[in-house]
Amino acid sequence: MAPYIKNIAKPTVLTFILALGVVSVGTVLFRGGDEATEETEYATAETENRARLLAEFMGAYDKEIVPSGNVVEMDMVAAESEVEIFDGYKTKVWSYNGQVPGPEIRIKLGDTLKIRFTNNLPQQTTIHFHGVRVPNAMDGVPGVTQEPIEPGGVFTYEFTPKDAGTFWFHPHVRSSEQVERGLFGTLIVEDETSRKYSQDVVWVIDDWRMTQDKQVYEEFNTPMDLMHDGRWGNVITVNAKQNEVLRAKAGERIRLRLVNTSNARVYMPQFKNLDAKVIAVDGMYVKEVFDFGELELAPGNRIDLDITIPKSADGNTFTLVDTFGRNELPLAQIAVAGVLQETPSFAFPTNPNVPEWKEARNASIDKEYRLNARRKAGAGMMGEIEWTINDKAYPDYDPYTFTYAEFNTMRFTNESSRLHPMHLHGQFFKVIARDGVPVQEPFFRDTVLVYPKQTVDVALVPLDKGLWVSHCHILEHAEAGMMTAVKVE
Ligand code: C2O
Ligand code: CU
Repeated sequence: MAPYIKNIAKPTVLTFILALGVVSVGTVLFRGGDEATEETEYATAETENRARLLAEFMGAYDKEIVPSGNVVEMDMVAAESEVEIFDGYKTKVWSYNGQVPGPEIRIKLGDTLKIRFTNNLPQQTTIHFHGVRVPNAMDGVPGVTQEPIEPGGVFTYEFTPKDAGTFWFHPHVRSSEQVERGLFGTLIVEDETSRKYSQDVVWVIDDWRMTQDKQVYEEFNTPMDLMHDGRWGNVITVNAKQNEVLRAKAGERIRLRLVNTSNARVYMPQFKNLDAKVIAVDGMYVKEVFDFGELELAPGNRIDLDITIPKSADGNTFTLVDTFGRNELPLAQIAVAGVLQETPSFAFPTNPNVPEWKEARNASIDKEYRLNARRKAGAGMMGEIEWTINDKAYPDYDPYTFTYAEFNTMRFTNESSRLHPMHLHGQFFKVIARDGVPVQEPFFRDTVLVYPKQTVDVALVPLDKGLWVSHCHILEHAEAGMMTAVKVE
């Protein structure tokens, strides 16, 4: 047995060994010490496997960002306002800076974003920047990372995003009401590739429950919504329009960023007759591109597409349809007209350093989260239910600590018959198994849809210290208790 195997825990040594391409550590280990107990052998194998998995992660994304020194400052106000979602109708909403979706903030990687935020709502609020690795104090979670901002109050959010990509922001106070009323916006952190496309466009997909006179139905967290998959609406909009059309020319190469800001509705979007490649999921580039069409866009998720409009497409329209439910629902269109353009030629922007983590299947599960519902104590026959994680309804929760900059695993076990898109603040993770069967997703995520009775195992290397919440992104479920918090240290 090679003597160096014993001190393998350091990634540097490990990388070196891996580079030699001679390791078959499993075999070596189990042949190892006759005097060692089976347990220690197992523990050693586990440690060494984790060290290898950690080494494989190195370079996937950075621990820190060096700020460029450029500060992008803006004011943002949350207030009641009116917008025109339906032609000829004013709909009362709550919005950021008077618009729905709120501002599309575009900054460059390395920029520091400074938002002077004023709460002119009749309720407390905060802003959470979904998917963005921010300093913990900027995460916008009341009672965890900051005090809620009172009506009339101000708060300055300032941070330098560590990753380029598609992100969004929304309140983290009574989110099932505040997001539904129109409080959401997007944060695009650009890298050099963003500028190479003919167009770089964001489609914010949202689902509303509206009354006949085109107003937001003002009963939130109804017992029906709580018992089922949250508030599914009767109006779906893209960029707050029912018939959003992107005008394009044949030959153009478009980066199309899809964001699901719905309280609860899950989409499986597809383009009919148009080839589109997925280049990023939840903000982060994929290891290798793949065909768009069979990936759920659950609440919170983002999918970035790379689309080349065929040369022969002049005069055509291409429709993005949702295929998640029984009926296909049209979402938005690309309409092609005009002079044929030259197609920008460059390699798909990908991240070859996304780990495969094939051996993650051999790592044990560090923390299991069981997802379920129960009748709220003291509630009557038609009483409210609450959603639980490990039998606790937030703000009560089961505390856990992930080890900073190490390979960690967790399992979501859905004991209920409902959908739960589980989101973790401040980190990206990779799905390694579903129902115990190893899966290869060539990308990281910050939100994963867990189907009824399903078990989803994920792995992560947390690079951001602090106390971070994890919750179901069906906002009614989160409001009814389906939230926990993990420490990274
Ligand atoms: Cu969009 Cu706590 O999440
Ligand atoms: Cu849920």
